[in-house]
Amino acid sequence: MATEKPTYYITTPIYYPSGKLHIGNSYTTIACDAEARFKRLNGYDVFFLTGTDEHGLKIEQKADKLGMQPQEYVDQMAASIKKLWKTLKITNDKFIRTTDDYHEKAVQKIFQKFVDQGDIYKGEYTGWYSVDDEEYFTESQLAEVYRDDNGKVIGGKAPSGHEVQLVKEESYFFKMSKYADWLMNYYKEHPDFIEPHTRMNEMVNNFLKPGLEDLAVTRTSFNWGVKVPNDPKHVVYVWIDALSNYITALGYGSDNDELFKKFWPADVHMVGKEIVRFHTIYWPIMLHALGLPLPKHVIGHGWLTMKDGKMSKSKGNVIYPETLVDRYGLDATRYYLLRAMPFGNDGVFSPEDFVDKVNFDLANDLGNLLNRTVAMINKYQDGKLVADNDATTPYDADLEQTAADVIDEYKDLMNKTHFADALAAVWKLVSRANKYIDETEPWVLAKDDSKKAELSDVMTHLAKSLRVIAALLQPAMPDAPKEICRQLGLSEEPIALTSLAFNDFSATAQVVKKGTPIFPRRDVKEEVEFIKSKMTTNEKKKGRKAMEEAKQKVQASAKQEDESTGKKAIRIDVFDKVELKVAKITAADHVEGADKLLKFQMDDGTAEGRQILSGIAKWYPDPSVLVGKNVVIVANLKPRKMRGELSQGMMLSAEKDGDVKVVIAPDDLVPGMSVE
Ligand code: ME8
Ligand code: MG
Repeated sequence: MATEKPTYYITTPIYYPSGKLHIGNSYTTIACDAEARFKRLNGYDVFFLTGTDEHGLKIEQKADKLGMQPQEYVDQMAASIKKLWKTLKITNDKFIRTTDDYHEKAVQKIFQKFVDQGDIYKGEYTGWYSVDDEEYFTESQLAEVYRDDNGKVIGGKAPSGHEVQLVKEESYFFKMSKYADWLMNYYKEHPDFIEPHTRMNEMVNNFLKPGLEDLAVTRTSFNWGVKVPNDPKHVVYVWIDALSNYITALGYGSDNDELFKKFWPADVHMVGKEIVRFHTIYWPIMLHALGLPLPKHVIGHGWLTMKDGKMSKSKGNVIYPETLVDRYGLDATRYYLLRAMPFGNDGVFSPEDFVDKVNFDLANDLGNLLNRTVAMINKYQDGKLVADNDATTPYDADLEQTAADVIDEYKDLMNKTHFADALAAVWKLVSRANKYIDETEPWVLAKDDSKKAELSDVMTHLAKSLRVIAALLQPAMPDAPKEICRQLGLSEEPIALTSLAFNDFSATAQVVKKGTPIFPRRDVKEEVEFIKSKMTTNEKKKGRKAMEEAKQKVQASAKQEDESTGKKAIRIDVFDKVELKVAKITAADHVEGADKLLKFQMDDGTAEGRQILSGIAKWYPDPSVLVGKNVVIVANLKPRKMRGELSQGMMLSAEKDGDVKVVIAPDDLVPGMSVE
């Protein structure tokens, strides 16, 4: 009986086709592709899914702006995204579009099931909506609010910086609250469900503990979406629509759910950290309500950032993968991205770093190892290799051990999707092999006829090392491993990783006459300039110009205000940014080694409290007189360190003729109250 291969199901987020995809989106797709290739080479039956999230207001508006029908617009975008994945040699088994007919039908079925079960009910929604984020916010979640003269909130900005508007609409709600306890328990029983683990704590502390609110899951404010069954003025809001893709792509909710039976639950949903919440709170609850098992892992990776913050379509501070692939090749681009993002953390893209990695890791370390090896095999033994001989050198054992260790370490890290570390492990073997050349000094052996066997042993060891390196690079690099094998006269067939071993080698073919560098060295200055020129997009230029103009306007009006009042006046919105609060001093002391400084512990209404330093020791030689007093603090000053002590804000005091007194607030004020 044939044994069945174990299955492995991995997914990327489905991307919004609201603009050209940049190397940030490409990162996730390349990472999943590397993992999919890795699992296939380990004998798994892999299903790798990616696709596009095509509904929603943003898409509707974008199409409108271009004078297109939404469908026409998403068709064009989906085609260009598919083309990009082809360029990046992504080996996805399926590409799902949320406008696919089978998906829309399945979403309607899922929605109806929730309604029938009482998980979804009809109500009214009021909230601050950001079109760009496609997300509602409560007032307290807003990063910035605008108020009218009576202090009423009339607008504001989402944490992303995008404008929000007040929206009131009839809406269907999902009873998330009903499942909060169950989910909390599930986390406890499945500590590896969310990775890295810190993100699980974030979900618990920021969302589950404060209490899960019911989620509005439909909209009436736009049309471009899946219609609610029997209530077509409502469309299913993007998250139920989008998240369902992971099961509808396998045929869930259709007549043919064979793939679903075979591959669900998913092994990994790989997502950026900003959508971990949707994948680890709403999605598990939806699945549980459907009576389905949960994905085994949700991995929230960090962001690829630029000097000025997260790379994003709306900011326009992006670099496109095609630019890098055209100039440096696909393998260099994929290598860089996988290497630049340490597991769980953000990775910074910089042109300097890119060119450095190409020059040092690829051209020098790996490229030269191959070149020198091919050149020596040609020079010393007519381009021929033996599989093995009895000779040894004192350095063989260590090289062999390093290879074995690297194989183990690499597999372990790849199994955990720690791509950057896995590649770093491969480079340990690259370095060890380069060092082996220096140690064995083949050019010395070549001068001595009695050392022929040893020389041949050295050449074979180098070829074996390069074969292991090529094998381990297959998931990250679609092309270079084959080229390494070709140059060494080895088979170019994929090398299974299941039983990869250093000595599993049968070389008889001829190495190439002259190796071509697989990764040519680049001129740093020229290439940094090239990449920089590509980073300055038109959008960015336009944005900069608009910003410049806005700044000038503000300056001009401030100047006018100054002139009319005769002194430096600030506008009300500037003052609004200052957060004044009541705090009670709970302890007061001198700061050692600083004559002028006092430090105060304060109850500011939060559980942690805060410490504030103040340079008023001269006027309060015995600071304990202030303990128990209410004071006013500036609560949103950037914390700073003085004399090794943290100061988290500023305490208001009054000054006249060189005398200073702390402003004492009345006793009946409660710590944490805001002063307005
Ligand atoms: O959020 N660094 O789609 P999206 C790293 N449609 N990864 C990045 C990145 C960056 N700077 N920018 C984007 C959506 N990504 C929803 C998803 S899933 C059911 C629905 C990657 O087009 C990262 O994986 O905004 C992030 O989560 C995703 O692109 C967001 O893509
Ligand atoms: Mg996004």
